[in-house]
Order: sequence, then structure tokens, then C-alpha cells
Amino acid sequence: MTKKRILSGMRPTGKLHIGHYVGALENWVQLQNDYENFHLIADYHVLTTNLDTSSVYDNTIEMLIDWLSAGLEPAKSPMFRQSQIKEHTELNLIFGMLITVNRLERNPTVKDQIRDLNIDYVTYGHFGYPVLQAADILLYKGEFVPVGEDQVPHVEISREIARKFNNQYGQVFPEPEPLLTRFSRLQGLDGNSKMSKSLGNTILLSDDSEIIKSKLKKAVTDPQKIRKGDKGNPDICIVFAYHKKFNPNLVEEIESGCKSGALGCVDCKMKCAAGISEFLEPIRMKRLYYENHISDVKDILNEGEIRAKAIANKTMTEVRERMNLG
Ligand code: TRP
Repeated sequence: MTKKRILSGMRPTGKLHIGHYVGALENWVQLQNDYENFHLIADYHVLTTNLDTSSVYDNTIEMLIDWLSAGLEPAKSPMFRQSQIKEHTELNLIFGMLITVNRLERNPTVKDQIRDLNIDYVTYGHFGYPVLQAADILLYKGEFVPVGEDQVPHVEISREIARKFNNQYGQVFPEPEPLLTRFSRLQGLDGNSKMSKSLGNTILLSDDSEIIKSKLKKAVTDPQKIRKGDKGNPDICIVFAYHKKFNPNLVEEIESGCKSGALGCVDCKMKCAAGISEFLEPIRMKRLYYENHISDVKDILNEGEIRAKAIANKTMTEVRERMNLG
């Protein structure tokens, strides 16, 4: 039986953090056994919010190293840059005609992003990035897209565009479905609901145990629990949220210790740091290898781009034929 195809994508933001791992990567690694996976590095998408492209390539390589270190296998899953496969821009142009401005205006994710960025303008390309994303997915005839909640509206737009194309020109594209990530997003060290590089509240996959310790020392905990002996509420503590993910065996002990006051925050944080550090150890070891073999990483990218190009070219030929633009 042929495997169903998945298209997953991420913007190249450089070294990844544990929020990326929990919210996406871990899931991708598991999915590669049951599906045919295409992993897109959305380097054009970077332009939607940042015109400075000087670090995009370096960020791409850093991100790719994290992907590989976390367990993505290039033999199973091609990894490639959007910018290297020209068919993305071609399909984007055609898809731009298949959706109304009104429909794009109703996309809540783009609205939220504009609000969060605190900008009072939106470029044509930024406004239209869900269309480019639809091209990313459909160029490979992706049937599933692993995403968090915030990306679901984009997948819906991809479905609508696929339907519109198929009705107009004949059946070419599947209607992709979101595969929701099981874990909710990981909070930042500062208590922010989102772990994010721009907020400076991350633990990187590449951080060593000393850095993890020093970052955890500053992590925000239950503000009512000031010293050992005070009773704490683990449910509002981000350190406890990390324990749940990275220290599952200690969760009960930590919970009761925090609630009774027997466990102080400093001890709890050091246990948490040790758990995270141990969890990340195999990733860190692999990372070290790739850092010293950058040419392997580049070869993997090259190889992935050759494979992706072949498929993209095939789809585009089909599209052109259907449209009488052959
Ligand atoms: N829009 C996604 C983000 O901002 C990245 C992305 C681009 C993507 N193309 C994609 C995700 C295709 C899934 C499928 O994170």
C-alpha cells in the first residue's frame, strides 16, 4: 500500500528550542514511519515579516541540523528550501487567482500576527502568505499537514483553493487535512504562554547542562511560593509543566513536594534542569557530529531539493496541461 503524503513546513529561524520540539518536531519524527513526508524550509515566508535576508541561509543550516539531530531521516523524508524550487512561485501565482481578497481578510492567524508584530501596515506578500503556503502543500499533493491550532485556518484555505482548482480545471489536487499536534505549546521561561526566540525565553535543543541550569534558575514559578516550606501550586508553574514533559517519572513526587512545601523551588528547578538535559543529550550528541560535518548537511539539503524538484515539476506539468498552458 502506498503511504499517504505529508507536507510539513517551518520557517528557518535558526537554532530550535524545546517548544519547537514538543510542538512539532517530535511529532514529525514519529510520523515519518507511517507516511511519506516532505519537509519544507519556508525561507520565502521569512520575508513576510523580515526583509533582511542576510542570515536566512545560516539559519536554514542551523535548523536543518536540529531537524536531523532530533531524528528526521533524510532517506525517508526529503528536506528542502522553498526558494530553490521555482514551481512554488508559479503555483502561488495561479492560486492567487483562485481566492478572493475578502476570504483572505477573514483569516484570523494573519490578523493576530499583524497585531502581535505591532505593525500598522501589511504587505501584499504578507497578506497572501496563506496562498503561498497552499502552493507549498499542494505542489507535493500533501494530504496531511501537521500543524498547531494557529495554522488550521491556512490549511482550510489550501482546501478551498484545491477544490476551486479541481472544479475549474479537473481533478489534480487532494484536499489536505490538518494533523493536529497532540501537545499544546510549551510556555516560555518567563511565564509567557509562548516560547519564542524573539521573547528571549527559550531553552535551545543545543543548550548544554550548564546553560540549562542557569536558564532554569531564572524561570518564573508560583509567585506565592517564596521559600522552601511555603505551599506551592504546581498547576500554575511552568517548571512543573516542563517536568511533565521531560521528567515524567518524577511528576508525582514533585507535585506532592511542591504542594506540601517540602520541596523548594531551587531544588525543583535543578531536578528539572537535569531532566531536560538528559532528555536532550542524544540530540546534542548528534548535533555535535553535524556541526563538524557541515558538508553532510549541505549534501542532505541538495539531495532533498533534487527529490522535491522532480515532484514539483511533475505537478506543475500536470497543472499546465489542465490549464492549457502547456
Ligand atoms: N506558515 C508556517 C509558519 O509560519 C510555515 C509554513 C510555510 C508551512 N509553508 C508551510 C507549514 C506549509 C506547513 C505547511 O510557521
